[in-house]
Amino acid sequence: MRRIAVLTSGGDSPGMNAAVRAVARAADAAGVGCVGVSDGYRGMIQGQIRPLDARDVSGIIQLGGTVLGTARSKKFYTEEGRAKAATNLRNAGVDSVVVIGGDGSMHGAELLSQEHGFNVVGVPGTIDNDLSGTDFTLGFDTAVNTALEAIDKIRDTAASHNRLFFIEVMGRNAGWIALYSGLSGGATAVLVPESDWDEDNIRRKVVESFALGKRFCIVVVAEGEREGGAFGVAQRICEATELDYRVSTLGHMQRGGAPTMRDRILGARLGDGAVTALLDGDNEVMIGERKLEIIRTPFQETWTTDDRDFGGLLALMDRLAR
Ligand code: F6P
Repeated sequence: MRRIAVLTSGGDSPGMNAAVRAVARAADAAGVGCVGVSDGYRGMIQGQIRPLDARDVSGIIQLGGTVLGTARSKKFYTEEGRAKAATNLRNAGVDSVVVIGGDGSMHGAELLSQEHGFNVVGVPGTIDNDLSGTDFTLGFDTAVNTALEAIDKIRDTAASHNRLFFIEVMGRNAGWIALYSGLSGGATAVLVPESDWDEDNIRRKVVESFALGKRFCIVVVAEGEREGGAFGVAQRICEATELDYRVSTLGHMQRGGAPTMRDRILGARLGDGAVTALLDGDNEVMIGERKLEIIRTPFQETWTTDDRDFGGLLALMDRLAR
């Protein structure tokens, strides 16, 4: 192996910097050169590639966002864009690539390998937790804790006013952030794409909760869930009732902030695991952590199968919400 390029791609997530640091330092420890690509695949196409040695990644483990910058590049979806990116990598002496990002970024990495012969390894960096082959993606823990802090605060005012709150959290097409923040935040219900919930049932549950003497109700809504998002859902559930309700959308604050201990360690382990996989000659695999063990999963499997127990936690959440 001659030189590794590392990039962060798609939505940033807390812990990406810990992973970048780990890639640069694990490469250094193995005597392999490392370069950083700025602004994801867009920067790759524009040739924004610079050396990244062990000292260059000093003092970044605690930082949110990504020091490399990131982007969602439309041009990389074209053959022409990818050919330009490949030429720039070759000119920089690169033969191996570590892509830190979500499922779109893994798809891009796969094409870089299949069309241009680079060895590519992925690190699952997204707050959405929507890639299998790992128990948790990088940034999920921090994002959930951020959402949880907001939910705790909203609960204070909800309880003071005897109010129902609908809180919308991020997650794109996945309900993991909603499930984990709802379960840990003592929500009455979480409304997620993974379950076929019914608006009449949620209304009944909320009304019953207040009748039983609860002073607040929190309903966590996964973003994009049904028409009108949390506002639409709240309106339909509460119309023709006397429920005093408010809606709060947490938005991009969930993506920022210093990574938690868990995300820093995950970033360190996954980044290091990515370099080890490349040294072993592995290709088109994503590095993940399952039951504390670092594993490699072929790209395709990370977006086509998922054996993580979402349903079990959802059922637990339901049983305990009373
Ligand atoms: O994939 C991470 C994520 O934060 C999703 O939860 C959300 O749907 C999306 O990115 C928002 O993307 P953007 O920052 O481009 O608006």
